[in-house]
Amino acid sequence: MKKTIAVLPGDGIGSEVTDAAVKVLQSIAMRYGHTFHLKHASIGGSAVDAHGTPLPDETIAACEASDAILLGAVGGPKWDKNPAHQRPEKGLLNIRKHFDLFANIRPVKAVPALLGSSPLKEEVAKEVDMVIVRELTSGLYFGEPKRRTEKAAVDTLVYTRQEIERIVDQAFEIARGRRGKVTSVDKANVLETSKLWREVVEERKAFYPDVEVEHMLVDSAAMKLITDPRAFDVMVTENMFGDILSDEASVITGSLGMLPSASVRSDGYGLYEPVHGSAPDIAGQNKANPSAAILSAAMMLRHSFGMHTEAATIEEAVMSVLEDGYCTGDLSGAGKRVVSTERFVEKVIEELERELVSEHIMYS
Ligand code: NAD
Ligand code: IPM
Ligand code: MN
Repeated sequence: MKKTIAVLPGDGIGSEVTDAAVKVLQSIAMRYGHTFHLKHASIGGSAVDAHGTPLPDETIAACEASDAILLGAVGGPKWDKNPAHQRPEKGLLNIRKHFDLFANIRPVKAVPALLGSSPLKEEVAKEVDMVIVRELTSGLYFGEPKRRTEKAAVDTLVYTRQEIERIVDQAFEIARGRRGKVTSVDKANVLETSKLWREVVEERKAFYPDVEVEHMLVDSAAMKLITDPRAFDVMVTENMFGDILSDEASVITGSLGMLPSASVRSDGYGLYEPVHGSAPDIAGQNKANPSAAILSAAMMLRHSFGMHTEAATIEEAVMSVLEDGYCTGDLSGAGKRVVSTERFVEKVIEELERELVSEHIMYS
């Protein structure tokens, strides 16, 4: 298969983890006989520096000419005082909006080999397997008016019925392919948008009689996520709640560096990126955990290209390296062999080669 991928490394550890994901994709391409044509383009702070804008037109053109987008991370202290339209984060928000990538899918899965790295008790974190479905192109992030004066500032929380319906439907569909349970998270005891959200979930559930539905208030959900995370299968929520709850959920896996994500629209086109940010505190030190980026590339293969075997091969390779005790510093602990980002990727690629050799032996 031939596919074109727009590669947008961004800032800080974004380029380190994206390089890692690209190496893994190259190894997969070679071994499965695919051609991945990579179009590198800039986004975020580095794009502000080079082009005066966090999302240059050339970057949009490169993405439009591609079958999917692989992104690292944006942001950093260098640009924190920039005006709103020249903030790196604006580039990310604009690309999500431009491509209408309304569904942000963030799987959270406990890795047996990393249970000791989570601050949660092993019996709480073990066997967690959930997906956060976060609405990504509306809510407080995009509502108008959004402005500030010397004396006050305003952000607007707006959701239309149609925006809620499509994300809720997405969550129901995902739940159907899993354990069949949706937890809708809102603040319906206070917010009008949440009351509408809850109404829409109640309406849509009639179309998915096979799926169990529960409603949960966001404050309570934040607590339950780390006291009883196995209670969740698919969690669906609005933009900002989903942003916060997914970083919280990463604690279950042991590190934010473990969580991949897919931001997709209905036709399967998508942007794939780790949940974490540019991690300025460790940037440029070859310390970043590339797992989230590598697993995001696997999600790309599965969701946008239908390459299920290739995606599973990558996921198994990452798990197997972690099971051997190799990890980056964010997961350090008893019995762990802490290695650099580059070394970790080498181990993943060795594992891919080993898995493929044994596959070849099995089938030949
Ligand atoms: P962050 O996610 O960058 O880092 C939070 C903490 O987690 C840091 O201690 C960092 O070292 C650690 N961490 C994150 N990813 C890691 C990885 N792969 N391996 C090892 N450790 C990792 O969040 P922050 O520090 O609040 O934000 C830094 C910048 O990133 C800000 O400018 C923010 O706007 C931006 N940001 C971007 C994205 C994105 O591009 N999707 C997401 C979140 C934050
Ligand atoms: C994320 C990030 C972004 C968000 C920021 C950088 C705009 O935190 O992808 O989770 O809030 O969506
Ligand atoms: Mn976030």
